[in-house]
Amino acid sequence: MCGAALEIRAGGAMCPNAHAFDRARSGYLNLLLSNRKQSKEPGDSAAMMQSRRAFLQGGFYGPMADAATAAVVGAVRGRAAAHVADLGCGEGFFTARIQRALAAQGSATCYGIDISRAGIKMAAAGERTVDWVVASLHRSPFLPRSLDVVLSVFAPIDAADARRIVRDDGALVTVTPGPDHLDALRALIYTRVKPHPETPALMAGDTLFEQTAATRVRYPIVVDTPPQIMNLLAMTPYYWNISEATRARIEALSRLELTVDAYVSTFRPA
Ligand SMILES: C[S@@+](CC[C@H](N)C(=O)[O-])C[C@H]1O[C@@H](n2cnc3c(N)ncnc32)[C@H](O)[C@@H]1O
Ligand SMILES: [Zn+2]
Repeated sequence: MCGAALEIRAGGAMCPNAHAFDRARSGYLNLLLSNRKQSKEPGDSAAMMQSRRAFLQGGFYGPMADAATAAVVGAVRGRAAAHVADLGCGEGFFTARIQRALAAQGSATCYGIDISRAGIKMAAAGERTVDWVVASLHRSPFLPRSLDVVLSVFAPIDAADARRIVRDDGALVTVTPGPDHLDALRALIYTRVKPHPETPALMAGDTLFEQTAATRVRYPIVVDTPPQIMNLLAMTPYYWNISEATRARIEALSRLELTVDAYVSTFRPA
């Protein structure tokens, strides 16, 4: 990608400098050139994506997704033909719900971006009305000031690139973990439970955006089947850092009561 505008066609995308990107049969665009990848399959793996999808489809994050949807819908209210991008969208659970809510309000274009091809592939198989793209959020494939809303749900945030692509009157909406998020799971993993930071830490020290709204969504859930408990574990970063003994202890559980705790924050360009 040289940064020039891409012309998007059914079969793929091309820029004036003849950089061409094919569309996969399932409909997504892969803009990640292999010589720019730092690893062969960057981002979350297919196994993590499958765990994530199975857990999210269990409905446990429904109220959190509703709050995120409300924030995005609120941010585009009154705009004709809004453009919204979900950066680090994974297998697209939040993106698809937000797309459906926006479509019900009028016309909107929704993009789901992730560096994981496995995630985008799953997303594209499930929801055709979103434009799914394999790309990095650090050099996102959007023209300057082209988006009404940039969304980030539990994903890394690149404030400088987000500022580049969002319109001056647009918004950045983030969902980040609150202090009690998945408390009982963390208690099983760490002997002393470190709470997540009290305030949304994402924009610490950032001067490009100012926060204009924040909602904390906090509620109890009960995960009461061993496969869903393992799905939950596998979609967290903890999965890769635990001992065999800890994993066995969690695998033996048949029920886990825990807290979902997240901040849904809206930022405007400063
Ligand atoms: C915790 S998951 C959240 C996925 C999704 N937003 C959700 O809540 O279901 C974080 C996601 O960020 C993606 N990611 C990590 N680094 C990235 C990058 N540089 N560019 C794009 N996506 C990235 C991962 O592949 C993963 O899908
Ligand atoms: Zn180009």
